[in-house]
Amino acid sequence: MLATDLSREVLERARAGITTRSSHAASGPAARQYFQQQGTRWQLKQEIATSSNFRELNLAQAWPFLPRMDLILNRNVMIYFDVETKKTSGPHRPAAAPDGYLLLGGSETTFQPR
Ligand SMILES: C[S@@+](CC[C@H](N)C(=O)[O-])C[C@H]1O[C@@H](n2cnc3c(N)ncnc32)[C@H](O)[C@@H]1O
Repeated sequence: MLATDLSREVLERARAGITTRSSHAASGPAARQYFQQQGTRWQLKQEIATSSNFRELNLAQAWPFLPRMDLILNRNVMIYFDVETKKTSGPHRPAAAPDGYLLLGGSETTFQPR
């Protein structure tokens, strides 16, 4: 699993793998497979953390190192991209396998020609 963000601070938080009970990341029953409760906080399980690769990446620029992926989760990031950026980059372009899936947030789209 590859986890990316533009922000080093966000990546450090992700590497730490700690979230609060109120966060939706740990609130559903499915999430309990991946998090362990520690008091009022939830810790990402070690096996998930060690199988994850956290990388700094600007999705609006070329992606030099990414393999084809079966599933890309990209919620509330393309909301920052203008149409030109969506045309030339975006997670659907270089990284999705031909039969792969791209999941976006409810308020964002990839480039859609009119
Ligand atoms: C609104 S937050 C969404 C976070 C998370 N995906 C979620 O849905 O809770 C947007 C995130 O996108 C990151 N971001 C913004 N522009 C980016 C870019 N060009 N490339 C990569 N990450 C970017 C920000 O650093 C921030 O962590």
